[in-house]
Amino acid sequence: MNNIRILGEKVASQIAAGEVVERPASVVRELLDNSIDAGARRILVSVEGGGKRKIKVSDDGSGMSRDDLLLCVERHATSKIRSVSDLFSVRTMGFRGEALPSIGSVSKMVITSRPESELVGHVFRLAGGKALSLDETGCPPGTSILVRDLFYNLPVRKKFLKSPRTEMHHIVDTVTRWALPFPEVEFTLEDDRKRVLHFPAAGDKVMRLSSLFGREVAASLLEAVDKGPGMHISAYLAPPEFFRNRGDRLYVYVNQRNVRDRFITRAVLEGYGRRLMKGQYPQAVLFIQIEPSRVDVNVHPTKQEIRFRDGRLVFTKIVAAIERALAVQFQTFVETEFSGRAWSPPLSVQEPGQMDFSQASQSAIQEAKPLMRSSGDEPLIIGNLGNTYILCQAREGLLMIDQHAAHERVVYEKMRRDFGQGKVQTQVLLVPIKLDFPVKEAKILAEKGSMLSRFGIELEHFGGTTFLLREVPALLSGAKWEDFLSELIPDLEKGRLQDQGEVDDMFMRMACHSALRAGHSLTHEEMSLLLRQLLEMDLPSNCPHGRPIFRYLTYPEIEKMFKRVV
Ligand SMILES: Nc1ncnc2c1ncn2[C@@H]1O[C@H](COP(=O)(O)OP(=O)(O)O)[C@@H](O)[C@H]1O
Ligand SMILES: [Mg+2]
Repeated sequence: MNNIRILGEKVASQIAAGEVVERPASVVRELLDNSIDAGARRILVSVEGGGKRKIKVSDDGSGMSRDDLLLCVERHATSKIRSVSDLFSVRTMGFRGEALPSIGSVSKMVITSRPESELVGHVFRLAGGKALSLDETGCPPGTSILVRDLFYNLPVRKKFLKSPRTEMHHIVDTVTRWALPFPEVEFTLEDDRKRVLHFPAAGDKVMRLSSLFGREVAASLLEAVDKGPGMHISAYLAPPEFFRNRGDRLYVYVNQRNVRDRFITRAVLEGYGRRLMKGQYPQAVLFIQIEPSRVDVNVHPTKQEIRFRDGRLVFTKIVAAIERALAVQFQTFVETEFSGRAWSPPLSVQEPGQMDFSQASQSAIQEAKPLMRSSGDEPLIIGNLGNTYILCQAREGLLMIDQHAAHERVVYEKMRRDFGQGKVQTQVLLVPIKLDFPVKEAKILAEKGSMLSRFGIELEHFGGTTFLLREVPALLSGAKWEDFLSELIPDLEKGRLQDQGEVDDMFMRMACHSALRAGHSLTHEEMSLLLRQLLEMDLPSNCPHGRPIFRYLTYPEIEKMFKRVV
């Protein structure tokens, strides 16, 4: 007796549907793709019960004739490609001809559609993929697809859906992501007839960026552009201090398609480089326009994975564009917060974080300005505030520098540079420092303490739990050694401190331990030395932990404060 059987069409189509339709948000995603491909200018998504009960997407796009309606729910029926070779020049969001049959097979679907050129439209009803009726109907040009009772015929899948709130959350995320690269298209999302998102066709990405990132971050975004033959990259980058512990605010678009790609994520991280620590992710949007023949979009049914034909080149271009933009990054916060105040309160806010941005400031994205670099125009030290901040007069107004953060950055950069050049400057201690550790730590230090000599730390086991510190990096001479070494012990134990990231972490720790504490009073000479060192840095805007080193209170702000201007 044979065991292998060909599956019936119904089972097969439900299996296929499983790949495309995971949850209500995936239905929304596919229907939005179709409306965009149909050239829609206005798209309305309206859902009920988190999309579990009802999802309806209506557009004013090209519409479908009666014959097309009958075909569109057939598997592999598409108007977008004809042959294999077309797969390499896909310019549309869809091309697989799988979405409508997949969604249809796991829901009750009603498609109403009319091409502009025809007088009447048609309404096509299906349940579980089976056609129920096809009738003429009066309707505006365009298409509206209603999906009811998702997974009604697949109770197991239905059980896996989350609460309406959670599903709604995914839908909001999807609509926001999808709307971003199409500023010329109006998007509206309604939940139980209440408007939760509205992006008017404003022709500007900035408003939509605010919806993804929130106002503060959107206002701080820096723009990076790289135009090359066959490829165009434009990125909107939040300064490093807005880092997240997950990559959830990293939005990547390839030819306007929202993709999730680890390779691009890595390139973005490399572009931010040392401005972020391990495990920190920046908030950023990347738009990559590339010759369709140079990217394969046919990797996964959800079309959210891609493969570049020349990945290395894309990688280096992204890294370079981001590095360039961040190298001249200076605090634009004050200015933008300032202009941000001109924003009127959102009009149709239903819930925090979801707003109408028609009033949003167009100037939120500013060109990065190398403010402090301007030669011959160096800030003049005025004094010190609370033994914590160095105050300077600068061209823009009052410059405030966090002395601890600044010193930390200076030490970090210098350690890193010296180490890279193989010449960590050390200081031999005239009187070695005697240090005592708990038994367990002492054991690890005795075994692995020699690993530290690369970093300019010479430690001698004196016997028992006692050690003598004979030589230290010159920059670290004032550190609290007992604390610092204890902190390193877990790394030593695990044999870390090998690759660049681990070594960087080590320098960050060193910097932190050596840095001037807030509350330490500085002489004028010390302040001016620190300022000079800071001006020489590549990355003077953040401490190694990403905290800002300085901020400006600009003249316009000060004038406003004193009501010299309104
Ligand atoms: N909103 C719409 N407006 C016009 N035509 C549509 C719309 N949605 C679907 N279609 C038609 O139905 C076809 C099948 O859609 P779909 O199953 O999503 O496959 P694909 O998008 O991969 O072609 C599309 O190729 C298109 O011709
Ligand atoms: Mg499609």
